[in-house]
Amino acid sequence: MPNHPPLLEVRDLTIEFPFGKRWTAVVSDAQLTLAKGDTVGLVGESGSGKSVTSMAVLGLIGELGGRVTRGSIHFDGNDVVKARPGLLHQLRGDRIGMIFQQPGRSLNPAFTVGDHIAETVRRHRNVSRAEAWKKAVSLLDRVGIARAGERASDYPHQFSGGMCQRVMIAMAISCEPQLLIADEPTTALDVTVQAKVLELLNELIRESGMAMLFISHDLTVVSEVTRRVVVMYAGETVESGPTSQVFSTPQHPYTRGLIASIPGGGRQQRLKLIQGGIPSPAAVIPGCRFHPRCDSRVSDLCNTQAMALREIGNGRSSRCLRAGTASAS
Ligand SMILES: Nc1ncnc2c1ncn2[C@@H]1O[C@H](COP(=O)(O)OP(=O)(O)OP(=O)(O)O)[C@@H](O)[C@H]1O
Ligand SMILES: [Mg+2]
Repeated sequence: MPNHPPLLEVRDLTIEFPFGKRWTAVVSDAQLTLAKGDTVGLVGESGSGKSVTSMAVLGLIGELGGRVTRGSIHFDGNDVVKARPGLLHQLRGDRIGMIFQQPGRSLNPAFTVGDHIAETVRRHRNVSRAEAWKKAVSLLDRVGIARAGERASDYPHQFSGGMCQRVMIAMAISCEPQLLIADEPTTALDVTVQAKVLELLNELIRESGMAMLFISHDLTVVSEVTRRVVVMYAGETVESGPTSQVFSTPQHPYTRGLIASIPGGGRQQRLKLIQGGIPSPAAVIPGCRFHPRCDSRVSDLCNTQAMALREIGNGRSSRCLRAGTASAS
């Protein structure tokens, strides 16, 4: 393990939201470590807590009506959970760039794409309008918009979905952040556009050295852009490790199920969905949270004893009792 502290470290994170009259944990034990310049994928089914975890990294849980009740988040030496609004404002957009999950909602139809980027620059840098506009044009050019000087004056509706996503990327990287959080950045795009946007992200990472937290339910995409991967299930981190190793020898039955569910790929070469569905955050599940869906339960312990995420060597961790044993993969 490197000696320098990680850029981002999320430990034992619990996040609650009100469901009816009760506060209920939607993330109950998230663990995530990201080194400077590293690329980490965050995967898991819909509702597993990926977006909420990333919102917590930006200190936005309170604004969403929730609360962090346990655990810590440190970004480059700053305690995000305890941070004052001024520091959070400085972190967001400036040192952490974010591409939100629903780009359509993030671009205001009343402003030109150039205005969007220029405003982001001016929020964090003391520059004139003219300078910010110039920067916006150069960023549009950098993210692959042809005739950027002219197109900067277009409105979002004049841009295709892929082009809007490029604008979102330009906004996210406008202040040269140390960390880019990309939440499902290509999900809404068709496959060829998706490939081009991924290529762009890869290029930007390579040339800037920024770190990236790449959130997606699409494991194939994650394997193309990340070095490490963290798998979440029902609010918990269930597995993490180098992406290639997690893919080749998954050490949690949930990860195995996700890989086997990749259409046309995985071990089964067919669509094999994991039985059942993700439990409601309010469900009380004794033992391992995945045990009701697990096809490799081995002992009563699985049904009764809560599992902790455990290091199993080679930079890998798993929350499965059987992880690291010969029969695990
Ligand atoms: N603002 C909110 N208020 C209440 N509950 C919320 C809020 N945002 C998320 N949740 C709940 O938190 C849980 C995790 O949601 P989250 O959006 O993090 O899932 P996700 O893994 O990003 O899923 P997807 O792949 O669909 O984006 C879900 O049960 C969701 O209903
Ligand atoms: Mg999400």
